[in-house]
Amino acid sequence: MLRAERLEVAYGGVVALQDVSLEVAEGECLAVLGANGAGKSTLLRTLARGVRQRAGHLWLDGARIDRWAADRAARHGIALVPEGRRLFAGLTVRENLEVGAARLRRAEVGGRLGDVLRWFPELDQRLDLAAGRLSGGEQQMVGVGRALMGRPRLLLVDELSLGLAPLVTRRIYEILGQISASGIGVVLVEQYTDLALAAAGRALVLEKGRCVFGGTAEELRRRPELLETAYLGRELLAPVSAAPGEPAAERAAAAGRRGAGDGRRWPAVAEMRLRLEAPEKRRIEEAARAAGMDANEWIRAALRGSEAVKDGEV
Ligand SMILES: Nc1ncnc2c1ncn2[C@@H]1O[C@H](COP(=O)(O)OP(=O)(O)O)[C@@H](O)[C@H]1O
Ligand SMILES: [Mg+2]
Repeated sequence: MLRAERLEVAYGGVVALQDVSLEVAEGECLAVLGANGAGKSTLLRTLARGVRQRAGHLWLDGARIDRWAADRAARHGIALVPEGRRLFAGLTVRENLEVGAARLRRAEVGGRLGDVLRWFPELDQRLDLAAGRLSGGEQQMVGVGRALMGRPRLLLVDELSLGLAPLVTRRIYEILGQISASGIGVVLVEQYTDLALAAAGRALVLEKGRCVFGGTAEELRRRPELLETAYLGRELLAPVSAAPGEPAAERAAAAGRRGAGDGRRWPAVAEMRLRLEAPEKRRIEEAARAAGMDANEWIRAALRGSEAVKDGEV
């Protein structure tokens, strides 16, 4: 369905991705692993067309999408769940979900909401609460649910389990399995390698913007040294049985000392820096400003099809 070949992405002069190729089929789950700063979010943004590559090509169903903008990609079923979910905290859960359905016909929205709630029955009782009042796990469910509202064919999820408790993380993984079993392709960025490799059929490991592994999840589980060099998996996959002094244990210890490369020890990633607004949200905020409304008001008006929202497109 989606194919990327030799992508290169730079921010100004800083190269964030180099020579990265991948392919995702319908119903397939691809895990993208790598340390902080490895280029995982950049890769998802590029696939969602929020960032333009400097070299390389992308195809969707065999058609080149190199010059597509993010909204066109979204219309064609590429949905991004950004790092930190970026919900509208002051809007209700229902409204947040409906934002994701802005491209469906009005008559379809109710039915689609029902579909999404079958995946996330936990949200059924929360529909009228402000999204900001939900737990982190519930907010992530809304984030994924919002992306699903637009009937995506490809779901790109950034840092799925970041900041979530293990129990709710496992629950969200269970739902993700159902989502991909329903035929939706999934690209999953995750810091917890064991979870991601259990969910994914194939995996890609990025290190400093380059792909250091691409293959089956099974193969990567057998080669944990690849994750050590990417500063990953030291808790879960580092060979705990290896005695100190053995090369594997030394490498794991060195990876642990290096941590995430920014002073924090991986995987204690309690916070993240978002350098780029999700294009969807930014567009909404700009449209609201142009209409002289605050973003929440503007979205509510758009959801009701108000005249005040001129192009009616969220
Ligand atoms: N908007 C941006 N402007 C400049 N540099 C950026 C921007 N976003 C990411 N980078 C840089 O690109 C590299 C990859 O970042 P990112 O894709 O966020 O990695 P990851 O998601 O794996 O942590 C890092 O060196 C980061 O500092
Ligand atoms: Mg990231």
